[in-house]
Order: sequence, then structure tokens, then C-alpha cells
Amino acid sequence: MYFPTYRPRRLRKNENFRRMIRETHLSVDDFIYPLFVAPGEGVKKEISSMPGNYQMSIDNIIEEAREVRDLGIPAILLFGIPFAKDEVGSEAYDEDGIVQRAIRAIKKEVPDLLVVTDVCLCEYTSHGHCGIIRDGEVLNDVTLELLAQEALTHVAAGADMVAPSDMMDGRVSAIRSSLDENGHQDIPIMAYSAKHASAFYGPFREAAESTPQFGDRRSYQMDAANGLEALREVSLDIEEGADIVMVKPALSCLDLIYAIKKEFGYPTAAYNVSGEFSMVKAAAEKDWIDEKRVVMEILTGIKRAGADIIITYHAKDAAKWLQE
Ligand code: PBG
Repeated sequence: MYFPTYRPRRLRKNENFRRMIRETHLSVDDFIYPLFVAPGEGVKKEISSMPGNYQMSIDNIIEEAREVRDLGIPAILLFGIPFAKDEVGSEAYDEDGIVQRAIRAIKKEVPDLLVVTDVCLCEYTSHGHCGIIRDGEVLNDVTLELLAQEALTHVAAGADMVAPSDMMDGRVSAIRSSLDENGHQDIPIMAYSAKHASAFYGPFREAAESTPQFGDRRSYQMDAANGLEALREVSLDIEEGADIVMVKPALSCLDLIYAIKKEFGYPTAAYNVSGEFSMVKAAAEKDWIDEKRVVMEILTGIKRAGADIIITYHAKDAAKWLQE
């Protein structure tokens, strides 16, 4: 049908018409809010490149978790900054590590908030890589055992879901087996399946103190130019037992979110990463953009592309704006 018979503007005339034909509705149900837990007490240290986000000690994380729960956000994604780092990332799989202790405290004080944990070694290793190093190489199969152990200690501490972000081959299956063998067959895995080696993680690495001390992550994270490989990665993770698949970053990968949702029909998460957040914050601080409208448009766009879940540092603000 063509003009003048069809005039799309008829249904844009006023807000009531627009409401009736609106295709995508953002909801607080869509969000996961990332948090960074650090050692100490009374610690609340702002991450300079991520205004409004902090490294927090467990006492403050509990307060934050309450606030997140009260806003109606269903889940947090927990990252840890360890007391000490070493070559093999020991604190990542220590049952008394920072994340494991934080999980126990949050589940005790705020039991109705889902605690999802990032499973990776890079925050815990002195070299900042996501796996064990030998002769300058990141070893795959040796790392799998440690990731499986890390996931198991998270779940034993009370985590509701684990989210491996390391991009080693076979990690979902290693984690699934280790959880199943220990009676945790009901705990889901949200796999960072299509994760690019992206420059958009810059601010996060300040937040998590996880910058690689040599080289980069290109031997394990995907080349940002690849989309078919992203589909293969997702297919592997589903075969290995992933319950939710993730695309990361979000804004430069909207095509992948769309393709992956369409191809697999699995619950699909998108990570609106630190660099995407910081760019918006920086422009808003300069009064170059309307922060609220830009954030809502971005999150709606990610959902329209096919994401069921959006992991975002904007979650608390967006939850408040959705209540207005
Ligand atoms: C750990 C991890 C990273 C992010 C999530 N988990 C950093 C990286 O892979 O370098 C990035 C999150 C963000 O930028 O917000 N591997």
C-alpha cells in the first residue's frame, strides 16, 4: 500500500495512538545490574570513568543490593576485586574469596534478589589474563578446571546463576559437569557466548583492575568483525548446556542479537558494556545529549533487536525513569 492511501503519520498523531501501536516496551524485568565488590569495610570508591558506579565492600554492597531490589530489578551481576592477585588467580576459586563471601552476605540479607556471578580469572590473576599462562600463551584446558571450581564455589555460597565470561573453549560443559556432579543440576548458566575482543571494555578494566599486563585478549575473545563465528559460538554453548546466551558488547552487535535470537530462540542477554555507558555519561555531563532520553532509546533499541535481558550500568536510573 502506498501514499496517499497509506499515511503512517495517522497513527503518530498523538500519544494515545502512539501508545497503542508501540512495539517494544522496556521493563524493569529486563535488567541485570553489575556490581563490584572489594575487600575492607565502609569502602565505596567511585570508578572515575564510570560515574555513579563504585567498588564497594560487602557492607555497602548489601545496602546497594537492597536498593536494587527495592527498585524492582530482578538480578545483580557480581564481580570481585580480590585482596591479592597471583599467577593462577587463587582467590577466584577460594571458598572464602571476596565474591564467595559477598554472595553469602547478600543471599542472607536480600534473599529475593537474584545473584548472578561473573566466572573468570582476569580480576584475580597478576597478569590480568582470563586463564593460566605458560610461555606467554593462555592455556585452555588447564583453565577449564579452575573455572569449573570457581563456578562451584560461587554456587556453593548461594549464587543463583553463573556467567562464564572467559571465552575458553569448552567452559560451559566443564562448568555444567562440575555443577551437576555436585548436586547443582538446577542452577542455570548464562554464557557470555558471543563476546568480542572490544575496546568498549576499557572503563570496566579500571573498575575491576583487570587490564592485561602484556598483550591483549585477542587469542580468546572473538574478532569484532565476525558474525557467523558468533552464531557458531552460541551453538556450541547451547550444546554444552547454556541456559541463556549472551552477546557482548551490545551496541556494536545489534545485528548479532537479532540473528542469534532468531536462529536459536533461546533466552538472549545483551551486555550494554562499560564503554557504552561511559560515552553516554560523558556526553551528558557536557550537556551534549539528553541523558534520560538517550539511555531509554539505547535500551529500547537493544530490546527491539531481540534481547530478553539487558545487563546495564544504567539499570537503576532506567528503573526510576520507568516509574515516572
Ligand atoms: C571479564 C569481563 C569483562 C567484562 C565482563 N567480564 C572484561 C574483559 O573481558 O576484558 C566487561 C564488562 C564491561 O565492559 O562492562 N572477562
